[in-house]
Amino acid sequence: MSNSVKRIVSGARTTGRLHIGNYLGSLKNWVQIQNENKYECFWFLANYHALTTDYETPQKAGDQLIELYADLLSIGLDPAKSTIFIQSDIPGHAELFLIFSMITPIGWVERNPTVKEMIRDYDLKSNVTHGLLGYPILQAADIALYKGDFVPVGKDQLPHLEISREIVRRFNNLYGDIFPEPQEKLTEVPLLKGLDGKKMSKSLQNTIFLTASEKEIESAVKSAVTDPGRVYRTDPGNPEICNVFSYYQILDPGSIEEIRQDCKTASIGCSQCKKRMMKLLNDFISPIREKKDEFMNTVEGKAMIFDSIEKGRKKAQTVANQTIQEIKEIFHFEVKHVEN
Ligand code: TRP
Ligand code: SF4
Repeated sequence: MSNSVKRIVSGARTTGRLHIGNYLGSLKNWVQIQNENKYECFWFLANYHALTTDYETPQKAGDQLIELYADLLSIGLDPAKSTIFIQSDIPGHAELFLIFSMITPIGWVERNPTVKEMIRDYDLKSNVTHGLLGYPILQAADIALYKGDFVPVGKDQLPHLEISREIVRRFNNLYGDIFPEPQEKLTEVPLLKGLDGKKMSKSLQNTIFLTASEKEIESAVKSAVTDPGRVYRTDPGNPEICNVFSYYQILDPGSIEEIRQDCKTASIGCSQCKKRMMKLLNDFISPIREKKDEFMNTVEGKAMIFDSIEKGRKKAQTVANQTIQEIKEIFHFEVKHVEN
């Protein structure tokens, strides 16, 4: 059932440009895990999952595939080390999703807090589709198709992973030990909020994109909410309630004592403090932005993207085929010609 080299599987929903919250919350971890060279890694763009909420704008999900794939390469995912692919390129995701749907009680998915949160965030209420309810079932299929042992995700994904384990356990009980029970590999980085202090989310327009231009960074930081009590330059500030300060804590932990002191004693003003944050963000984003530019805007770069997508598809397909073959045997889908 389990391989000697443990397998890692994780996906990113293709619902828009990636932001630094996506990166610090999970993608950075993907790159680290890949470079540990300890695991066989499968990373994919979850474009079926994008449709659970964005089915009315399919072109959006499609148009962004190349961009997002280039993003993954730009942050350091490497097709020579990992299998990097697109979910819908591999029909096995849909097939296993269907099989898993047969054995998943509705109660399991209805009480999933992450799905409930999505219903709230997207304001779906009575508009919940069967596909959205099935979100965690599709995710379980994503992982099991490659017999994933570990799944690097952020905290918000834990309820999904719990359902994945329950589904796999049920499947194994019914049909024999086929799938390993996937364990989470949590990212240590704390959840990064938007600069307005709310949850970082594309729909709230409080994100900083992973390939943001210098101008975009500037205007995002400029509009950041700081300590509202600090009205005049000479007012001492309270960094603990300032969103800019929370960014320092994550992006440059070495500087926080100094900033805390300078803020409390009004030795620096917010605009100066924000300028320093803009530079930090730009130093962190610009290498990624430049790589992405090379991929997207040169002939060789573009060719590299398409070659990598094809390579990822082939590698993922080989592994997926083996699992689907096992499934077909379990369910007696292979019709054999029997002589009588
Ligand atoms: N639900 C994940 C997210 O929103 C994306 C995802 C889809 C995923 N399938 C997966 C993550 C399988 C890990 C494994 O981030
Ligand atoms: Fe926030 Fe910096 Fe202003 Fe203090 S000085 S309130 S930490 S932006």
